[in-house]
Amino acid sequence: MDKDATQQTRAVRAGVDTDTQHGAVMPPVYLTSNFNFAAFDEPRLHDYTRTSNPTREALADALTELENGAGATITATGMGAITLVLQLLNRDDLVVAPLDCYGGTFRLLNAFAERGLLRVKLVDQTDHQATADALSGARMLWVETPTNPLLRIVDLEQMRELATAAGALMAVDNTFLSPALQRPFDFGADLVVHSTTKYLNGHSDVVGGAVVAATDELAEQMKWWANTLGLTGAPFDSFLTLRGIRTLFARMAIHEQNAMTLARLLEKHAAVARVFYPGLESHPGHALAGSQQRGYGGMLSFELTGAEAAARAFLEAVQLFTLAESLGGVESLACHPATMTHAALDQVSQKAAGISPGLVRLSVGIETGEDLVRDIRTGLAAAAAA
Ligand SMILES: Cc1ncc(COP(=O)(O)O)c(C=O)c1O
Repeated sequence: MDKDATQQTRAVRAGVDTDTQHGAVMPPVYLTSNFNFAAFDEPRLHDYTRTSNPTREALADALTELENGAGATITATGMGAITLVLQLLNRDDLVVAPLDCYGGTFRLLNAFAERGLLRVKLVDQTDHQATADALSGARMLWVETPTNPLLRIVDLEQMRELATAAGALMAVDNTFLSPALQRPFDFGADLVVHSTTKYLNGHSDVVGGAVVAATDELAEQMKWWANTLGLTGAPFDSFLTLRGIRTLFARMAIHEQNAMTLARLLEKHAAVARVFYPGLESHPGHALAGSQQRGYGGMLSFELTGAEAAARAFLEAVQLFTLAESLGGVESLACHPATMTHAALDQVSQKAAGISPGLVRLSVGIETGEDLVRDIRTGLAAAAAA
């Protein structure tokens, strides 16, 4: 690869021209559980697919390059990647995680804490002092930015300073932006986690995950634990995700363009009380997002003045936004956090997290912008009438 090639070029060309057997332009998919020995006592590079597989390694290499890390481990799901990172903790080690972290992460941390495997403190990471206090004696700082569903922006440089002062590892879940729009290693993260299910694969047809490590030592530890626990991803899923990554930068540009158009439209509409999109000047994290991100992404949320009745009317009226959880696919999705992604939180916790009954979250897809605008207008008219 040309050493001056951009990350976009590297994403497009990941694994291209690597087949030495037949000269296949695209890397083949190795659907095999095992590999023979070349001869007695002569193992090859790969011996068993749980441990390593050429297709999975091609995806790992691509993510290592895109995140600028030392090495990556590909897991079967994003939760598998998070489980893997938690293996770096010993009994009673303290993890400091965001109050509004992804629900699956919250459930896993709590379940491990209840079994006495670790200790957890949840904190608003936009509150510098509260985070510094919580980190006293911590082994790991878990960061998500932007957060879900209110798209709060957390200062990565500040998180690194606080983690260093506490002697803690810093792990960043970069699922919402992908390496196209944010590279946590530029800010000193030790580990970057992805649900590749989302933007990296980008077509809502695979679940997968990845842990990218900043150092060879951490990368080796992740690889060892993934093999030992059996968390590694399937070759065919890796093939599809690598295929998705080739269009990552092109997709992210359209996701963002469409999200910005819709955010501006929503901001002006009388049926909407508030819009949460970091690309808007009105967003409290706008300047910070501008400095630590390479774009604002395709996720946005908004609060309807008519509360739950308006949210229901909106979600029933739109046709191009599928009512579904998950995010990051080419197709637009709409979700009602209070009854869907964040239904596990009781009403008091939902209120504390800023999740109101009128809140709607959009994963804005790459359909034609004008079509999405028309559809959102229809939804808003229904919400206003409700
Ligand atoms: C930010 C974030 N991290 C991790 C996960 C878990 O990933 P997966 O569903 O692939 O296990 C998700 C899934 O929604 C997510 O949104």
